[in-house]
Amino acid sequence: MLLIGKDVTFAIQAEQILICSACFKINIETLIMAQEIFDKVNNILTEIKNAQPSGAEELEQFRIKYLGAKNILKPLFGEIRNIPNERKKEFGQLVNSVKQTAEARWEALKNQAADAEESAEANQLDVTAPGEPLDIGSRHPVSIVMNRIVETFSRIGFTVAQDREIEDDWHNFTALNTPEDHPARDMQDTYYLLHDTEKLLRTHTSSVQIRTMEQQKPPIRAIFPGRVYRNETISARAHCQFHQVEGLYIDENVSFADLKQTIEYFAKEMFGHNTKIRLRPSFFPFTEPSAEVDISCFICGGDGCNVCKYTSWVEIGGCGMVDPNVLENCGIDAQKYTGFAFGMGVERIAMLKYRINDIRLLFENDVRFLKQFTSAL
Ligand code: PHE
Repeated sequence: MLLIGKDVTFAIQAEQILICSACFKINIETLIMAQEIFDKVNNILTEIKNAQPSGAEELEQFRIKYLGAKNILKPLFGEIRNIPNERKKEFGQLVNSVKQTAEARWEALKNQAADAEESAEANQLDVTAPGEPLDIGSRHPVSIVMNRIVETFSRIGFTVAQDREIEDDWHNFTALNTPEDHPARDMQDTYYLLHDTEKLLRTHTSSVQIRTMEQQKPPIRAIFPGRVYRNETISARAHCQFHQVEGLYIDENVSFADLKQTIEYFAKEMFGHNTKIRLRPSFFPFTEPSAEVDISCFICGGDGCNVCKYTSWVEIGGCGMVDPNVLENCGIDAQKYTGFAFGMGVERIAMLKYRINDIRLLFENDVRFLKQFTSAL
């Protein structure tokens, strides 16, 4: 049995074979032929293990050769009849293991090729190529204008105060010297809350002026940006909600001249240094005297255009000296202190600045409209 080992070649020494053939009657030819077959299979096994096909075509050739319908392993199974009985089992196992090795190698090579393809793709990444532009969004034109107004007044010492949008009658009307029968209180103009008719949506940020005066002692110098509501029919020029910035300055000896100076400063900062202002006598229950604020048309420069309706002037807000009744309503000594107040509509200014002809565009939030605005005014 000495010869029936795996490495028969090693053992094929003439002397031994003679002994063996004598003892076991093993035909030396058969033995050598069997060994050749074993060698052939082992060679195929090594070949499979070392195969390194490059590219899709060679990979496919590998598959056809070892796993295809006419693969070279198939005839090996038939060789079993040339193997002596003692080694048939060993041979069978060997050929099976060659088949399994071919399958495993094929899987590994396939994955390797896929990985290589992936990293080739990654290598194609051109890091010097210009990046995809990111949509970074932009500020709403109302915010841009409101921020600009706030910033302009901040520079001359006005602080910012904000408060609730759901107000009571006192802060929105009564404290502001607005009589019981004033038309602004009418259901037609003011939104009252259904479940609590004492409460309303503020119609102006003057309510915050009252709250500030109730809480602080003069000197007071503040602006009041915020959203306000009026029961208006929505059209190109009017909306039921909009934004205001109001302002208030209370101190000893505050005069109408201070008011005019402040408005002029603001108009020039906001609309350009050639801008002129015009104060037209008007009426508000909470200021006396009161005025409408006009600025010279910054679009036509006074020549007349459809924005100023050929008058050379555009209205931007209202103003006046705070009525002494209002000061007293807030516990401020009207003998000692005087003050001025003003208010303007943010949408109106945004529409003038950006030449927007329909206020509804500012509330629809259509991205195509909004992305046209940059922070630079
Ligand atoms: N509150 C006024 C309005 O909403 C604006 C205004 C404020 C007028 C302060 C005069 C003084 O129309």
